[in-house]
Formats: sequence, C-alpha cells, structure tokens
Amino acid sequence: MFKIRYAMEFNDANIIQLPKNFDRRGNLSVVEEITNIPFEIKRTYWIYDVPGGEVRGGHAYRNNEEFIIALSGSFDVILDNSFVRKTYSLNRSYYGLYVPKGIWRQMVNFSTNSLALIMASIPFDPEDYIYDYEHFRDLSNEKLANKYLKH
Ligand code: TYD
Repeated sequence: MFKIRYAMEFNDANIIQLPKNFDRRGNLSVVEEITNIPFEIKRTYWIYDVPGGEVRGGHAYRNNEEFIIALSGSFDVILDNSFVRKTYSLNRSYYGLYVPKGIWRQMVNFSTNSLALIMASIPFDPEDYIYDYEHFRDLSNEKLANKYLKH
C-alpha cells in the first residue's frame, strides 16, 4: 500500500505553465522564482548542440531541484523515483517541468537545434550527484521506510 502512495507522490514532479504575453511583435514568457516555480533560483545553465541520439543526465540529485524548459526544439525528460518511471515531452517555451530532489532523470530525443534551459535551486556541487542507480534505489527505499514505517 505504501508503495502505491509513494508512486502517487511522484506527482510532485509536474509541468508548470508560464505566463504568456502573446503579441503580434513576438511572444514573451517569464519565470519568477517562488511565484512561478517552487524554489529560489541559485543557478541557470543550458544544454545545446546535442548530437542526434545523445542522452544527457542519467543521475539524481540529493538536494537540487530543477525547472527545465525547451526554449527551442524538443526533447523528452524521463523521471524515475525507483518505483515509477514517467516520460515528459517538452516542446514549447511557455511551460516547463519541475523536478523535485531525489528523482533519477535522463534527457533524450533532442531535436536538431534544441535548447534546454535549466534553473537550479543550489549552486553547482559535484557532491550532490548520485550517479549509481543501485545506490539511488537504496536511498529511495530508505526514504520510503522512514516516511511510512516509522509512524
Ligand atoms: P552534468 O550535470 O553531468 O550534465 P548532464 O546531467 O546534462 O549530462 O554536467 C556536465 C559537465 O558540466 C560536468 O563536468 C559538470 C559540469 N557542470 C558545471 O560545471 N556546472 C553546472 O552547473 C553543471 C550542471 C554542470
């Protein structure tokens, strides 16, 4: 039963629509920390010139939360909380994907000239990365046990 509840909590990861200013001169969208996304932005980076078939990510973060936008082109983000795996297709610049901490993520299927903009909740910290999937799964199980079995 608790596994089902944990799987449902995965919905903390979600697509967030951004404000859109449609204008015949060209459109404008905006992200404000806390107002549009649920964290303060400490870092912004972008991924571009991805060769066809390449995969980015393939890790989880211990503490970092992210918001990912396809500013141009398209790509898929695969999220995995060790129980459920979901694929989100990003292909518009007026919405993005909120990724909570502690989720395994991969970015795949980059279109030609795609541009991924990523806002992050902490400064770059190599120690925050979990690269080993088995370790990630163990940590997720531990978190699950702490959450539901100790009450
Ligand atoms: P990485 O996070 O592994 O990229 P991805 O998850 O998209 O495959 O980062 C690739 C390289 O860039 C790695 O050497 C660390 C460096 N990097 C920074 O220096 N600062 C950053 O903010 C990020 C995200 C990466």
